[in-house]
Amino acid sequence: MAKKKLVISTGAGMSAESGINTFRDAGGLWENYRVEDVASADGFRRNPALIHEFYNARRRELLKARPNAGHLGLVKLEKDFDVYVITQNVDNLHEKAGSSNVLHLHGELMKVRALDNETKVWELKPDMIETTLETVIDGHRVRPHIVFFQEAVPNIEPAIELVKQADVFVVIGTSLNVYPAAGLLHYVRPGVPVYYIDPNPASVPGGVTVLPMKASEGVEELARILAKA
Ligand code: OAD
Repeated sequence: MAKKKLVISTGAGMSAESGINTFRDAGGLWENYRVEDVASADGFRRNPALIHEFYNARRRELLKARPNAGHLGLVKLEKDFDVYVITQNVDNLHEKAGSSNVLHLHGELMKVRALDNETKVWELKPDMIETTLETVIDGHRVRPHIVFFQEAVPNIEPAIELVKQADVFVVIGTSLNVYPAAGLLHYVRPGVPVYYIDPNPASVPGGVTVLPMKASEGVEELARILAKA
């Protein structure tokens, strides 16, 4: 029998237990930085050097982080389900854990792209993660491969297609503040079970089963629930 399609949408809370700060919790990144300075297209035009520094710091932090039990739990679900992860996270912890299908909505921290050609993308080596205004790769100056606010989200279309095909849809660790990612929930087919794992959940439509737990515990609970279903 074909496996059921389990589509999982993750946010910063997924990586919190790996030691990576979320954005909007107390002590989150947006308490110490202005989002319009370090994560917007206008900010990049105004002060690109600051943006290089900001993402260099995020890369240094990521190199110290390891996937947590939540990431690993999602990989285990591949035994019984066709699992697709759609993530707002720019870290690579789903890939490091071993997830087979990962779609990044907001870009990837360990990649840069050419300033003059967005289709030219390079993966940074762990020993060369610092970029500046002067960094040149294959003759091109580069920028972080991050979707800034005010920019289009190219992967939202394939993400919507995945959600439309889901037999089970799960949302983990996101405050559901940022669109279009937050809107994915609305593309599930009628009758499809939807779970939301978050210790401090945002309000969600009735019918969504909320598991008010950290990602590690919530994924374990989800596995138990799905095994019984
Ligand atoms: P937020 O920081 O807005 O929300 C993080 C969510 O994670 C909150 O709902 C927390 O309750 C939850 N959380 C905290 N610890 C958790 C844990 N251990 N397990 C599970 N959940 C936990 O982060 P996002 O919703 O991901 O975009 O933010 C969306 C986007 O806003 C980001 O991708 C980023 C940001 O600006 C860009 O920079 C383009």
